[in-house]
Amino acid sequence: MKKILVTRKLMKSSEDYALKIFDVKLNKEDKLMTTEELIHKSSDCDGILSSITEKLDHNVISKLSNKIKIISNFAVGFGNIDINAAKKRNIIVTNTPDVLTEATAEITILILLGAARRAKEGIMWASKKNWKWSADFLVGKQLTSSRLGILGMGRIGRAVADRARVFGMKIHYYNRSRLDKNLEKDATYHKSLESLMSVSDFFSINCPATKETKHIINNKTIKYFPNDAVIVNSARGDMIEDDAMVEALKSGKIYSLGLDVYNGEPDIYPEYLTLPNVFVLPHLGSATTKTRIAMGNLAINNIEEFFNTGKCKNKVN
Ligand code: DGY
Repeated sequence: MKKILVTRKLMKSSEDYALKIFDVKLNKEDKLMTTEELIHKSSDCDGILSSITEKLDHNVISKLSNKIKIISNFAVGFGNIDINAAKKRNIIVTNTPDVLTEATAEITILILLGAARRAKEGIMWASKKNWKWSADFLVGKQLTSSRLGILGMGRIGRAVADRARVFGMKIHYYNRSRLDKNLEKDATYHKSLESLMSVSDFFSINCPATKETKHIINNKTIKYFPNDAVIVNSARGDMIEDDAMVEALKSGKIYSLGLDVYNGEPDIYPEYLTLPNVFVLPHLGSATTKTRIAMGNLAINNIEEFFNTGKCKNKVN
């Protein structure tokens, strides 16, 4: 029986499932492991089921036991792992695509609405006793008939588009390549980010974190947006240069921002917490019971598939 280190607590049914298939070291207390602990605890294991809270960089990977053949990440994103360093050590890295598409698209709509309709200020006022209804009290921006620019039309971007269409939004997108007609539906493709941003009343970041997308929203690119644009990010914090964003929020260039992800999580750039026009959630994109169980089971199945066949369809390196 293969031995697996599961670095973080999973949903109970996923842990029970793993116990049926592998000799598993669970993290019952869900205590964050130091790098040394992770290296030590995995030293007699054949695989690691990791989470986004572990940074498996070149240095950590170089110190892993030769026994380890797979790192199965409990996430669709894998920016926490140096996949090339893993490849050089003949360790495959896998992720959990598809199963979290809907949940993440739902949270994107939540932060879109939260930012557009001034939910942070609304919650603040509702908790005081002295709010008064008036015709212009906390008036926000309406989604209906406005243009939504989507950066990254992969599975999650397309699921966001489907939901936004129901609100009557017109979809525009920028992607490495244009989608086939059946996936594109009625969306308008833009050949450049500048072109997409310039028509985006609302803008949703749904691309992976890579060297190319790091700080793609910066001092220069923010200028391309129409005045008063609403931006949301449910992908990874890396895409936004926080200083530039805060400046744009303060100047009114950007109307509001909805965030579920941050640079340096769990830290949040302090001004995002104090500015009234920033609606924040603590990385809840995939956090539904159904999705978290599905992600855990898929991360386990990825390991099983690899040890049974030598391959895995969700391999990313
Ligand atoms: C993912 O799967 O990448 C999510 O962000 C984790 O919640």
